[in-house]
Amino acid sequence: MSKKVSLTGIKPTGQVHIGNYLGAIKQALQLSDQYDARYFIADYHALNIVKDKQEMSDSTYGVAATWMACGLDPSKVLLYRQSDVPETFELSTFLMGFTAKGLMNRAHAYKDKKQKNEDAGKDSDFGVNMGLYTYPVLMAADILLFNTDIVPVGKDQVQHVEITADIAGAINHCYNDELLTIPKPILNSSSEVVQGMDGRKMSKSYDNTIPLFMAPKKLRKLVMKIVTNSQEVEEVKDPETCNVFAIYKLFANEQEQEALKERYLAGGLGWGHAKQELFEMLEATFADKRERYDELMNDKSYLDKVLKEGAERAREISSATMNRLRKASGIGC
Ligand code: ADP
Ligand code: TRP
Repeated sequence: MSKKVSLTGIKPTGQVHIGNYLGAIKQALQLSDQYDARYFIADYHALNIVKDKQEMSDSTYGVAATWMACGLDPSKVLLYRQSDVPETFELSTFLMGFTAKGLMNRAHAYKDKKQKNEDAGKDSDFGVNMGLYTYPVLMAADILLFNTDIVPVGKDQVQHVEITADIAGAINHCYNDELLTIPKPILNSSSEVVQGMDGRKMSKSYDNTIPLFMAPKKLRKLVMKIVTNSQEVEEVKDPETCNVFAIYKLFANEQEQEALKERYLAGGLGWGHAKQELFEMLEATFADKRERYDELMNDKSYLDKVLKEGAERAREISSATMNRLRKASGIGC
């Protein structure tokens, strides 16, 4: 029996951060042992945000190199660029015919933006492009094209996968056939949102991220900027409300967590000490991966080769799905 399919995408919008790693990448790679894994770079999704040519190109290579530096083996996992799969855009148009406008009105990203505009007394559609409005349809096309069973993502993406399942259900019902696989979102084990330097959700949009592969000196400087309160060194500190500890916890084993907790509660631990502990933990976790990342980023022709081969294999699957839908719907025949 063939394996079930796991698929996820990362947008090339700036540097990949530890929230992306813990929320999506780590789990996706663990799942690639038991699943037929298809992981991609969502460059057309990024186009809603990134309008600078160099940034789009650099971040696209960056996401590809990140996947591989974190352990993706391109001979086992299909790695490709969304824009190399034209069927994505054909399927996206196909799905439009089955997607209620109301479903898009309820999608979080659009709804939040609209609410913010209204709160600021602006036109509700100010700054909303059609790419943002129809974002869930393009994402549904990514997922449905590859016969996806599970989608490892962070909490914020769950609604998009549910919308995808709705649209696929409508199509299967319409043609009275199991044409499309109904996908399920899979959250990482803690299913928690990773918080950023300021305690809000870590996100490129909030400029509060800790990038995965920063040079050690820069990383240390950044960690030292994590927001803490103004308690003095000798004071007893509460690990549970501390931004530094919240991030440390994500990488430390239980013993390490307990040890640092005790130091918080004993007093005499300055914020600089706590931040140094976190810096060392991040270095221990990512230094080897960073080395591999730097090597890959210096070998763009290898990255191009991997993406080219990925595109070819991806198109075999995507064209089969599209042919199935064309046949079932009478389009083009
Ligand atoms: P960003 O919010 O920084 O732009 P993306 O939207 O590109 O990040 O997210 C890529 C993947 O990483 C998604 O699966 C998303 O759910 C996950 N992710 C992003 N930020 C976090 C976070 N702070 N905690 C957990 N998962 C996250
Ligand atoms: N929307 C996802 C994000 O912002 C990226 C993405 C695009 C994706 N297409 C996908 C994730 C398909 C999972 C499956 O992070």
